Amino acid sequence: MGHLVSARLKVGVIGAGAMGASHVATLAAGVPSAEVTRVFDMDTARAKEVASSVGAEIADSADALVDGVDVDAVVIASPDFTHVALVLACLRVGKPVLCEKPLALSAEEAHSVVDAEVALGRRLVQVGFNRRFDPGFRDLKRSIDDGSLGEVRVLHGIHRNASSSTSTDDAGLVTGSMIHEFDTFRWLLDGEIVGIRVESPIVGGFRDPQVATLWTSGGQMITAEVFVNAGYGYDVRVEVVGTGGSATLEPRTPVVRRIAGSAGSMIGSDFVAHFIESYRLELAAWADAALTGTVVGASAWDGYVANLVAASGVRALGSGAREDVEVPERPGLYA
Ligand SMILES: NC(=O)c1ccc[n+]([C@@H]2O[C@H](COP(=O)([O-])OP(=O)(O)OC[C@H]3O[C@@H](n4cnc5c(N)ncnc54)[C@H](O)[C@@H]3O)[C@@H](O)[C@H]2O)c1
Repeated sequence: MGHLVSARLKVGVIGAGAMGASHVATLAAGVPSAEVTRVFDMDTARAKEVASSVGAEIADSADALVDGVDVDAVVIASPDFTHVALVLACLRVGKPVLCEKPLALSAEEAHSVVDAEVALGRRLVQVGFNRRFDPGFRDLKRSIDDGSLGEVRVLHGIHRNASSSTSTDDAGLVTGSMIHEFDTFRWLLDGEIVGIRVESPIVGGFRDPQVATLWTSGGQMITAEVFVNAGYGYDVRVEVVGTGGSATLEPRTPVVRRIAGSAGSMIGSDFVAHFIESYRLELAAWADAALTGTVVGASAWDGYVANLVAASGVRALGSGAREDVEVPERPGLYA
């Protein structure tokens, strides 16, 4: 398949949970270049509800959706363990695919996607690292790229959920949640993570929060706290410290209330609401790229490297020591 000829990209969405339902609604209401034609979820009632909300049909199976003549491109928003097989199915039929993060559960699995794309000789995969499309994160990246911070030395990241139903074990917190940080830091700094240590104050039971120390190919150090049951709300912050100054990405808090002797603003608990504009910009960029036969955002290679860092992070959580990350040579397809 070369360039798609249809005026609007016909999209099939697999998984209609929190993210899938949000992507379906956003594609329908906020992405004029796309329309949702099919939805599949293991939970058929859920698929029906989400499909009918935008006038789409359900599919009988994920494979039927991927193969469907009324599907030009696929969004994967089913659980992490389903991602690789579904992405490979899309590659087999040559359809562009936006796969939610993480690309895979392991680096080996993720590499099988890279291998398949390299064998195909063209890129079709975008990984849903949505922060690359978030206006705040893009501003932060500009403040690094324009040199106004001088030479960047240190980054500090905070990533807290009120609660999480998907990152529920020690390794899953690294591969499912902290993986956002791994991609964000590589992208912000245009570099690789070369070493990682991960510790937690919790010794018996679910090791949440976790605090990572990372070292980069550019000689910077990073700290990242990920706390997926922080209780009070969803909170994502980053500070970049350079030789010329620092830049802080704070959540937007337009209204400060002064009540009963204290001043404060609301903190939401819903990550979908927090990042909704980034998802819209991500989906719009993906659809526009798919219509012209190109790919933007995080590639399968970026997804693989994030999984590679996560694998070292999981090892570090067990060893208590710094673990190296050895990134192999990048295939020419991802130059
Ligand atoms: N980019 C982000 O910011 C972000 C945020 C949250 C979740 N995610 C990712 O999105 C994906 C979905 O997460 P969620 O929070 O929506 O989870 P969820 O549990 O709310 O939804 C998952 C849905 O997938 C369905 N499902 C289960 N197995 C399936 C299968 N084999 N085939 C098709 N559907 C199946 C379930 O019935 C459910 O409706 C995960 O990979 C998660 O890591 C990304």
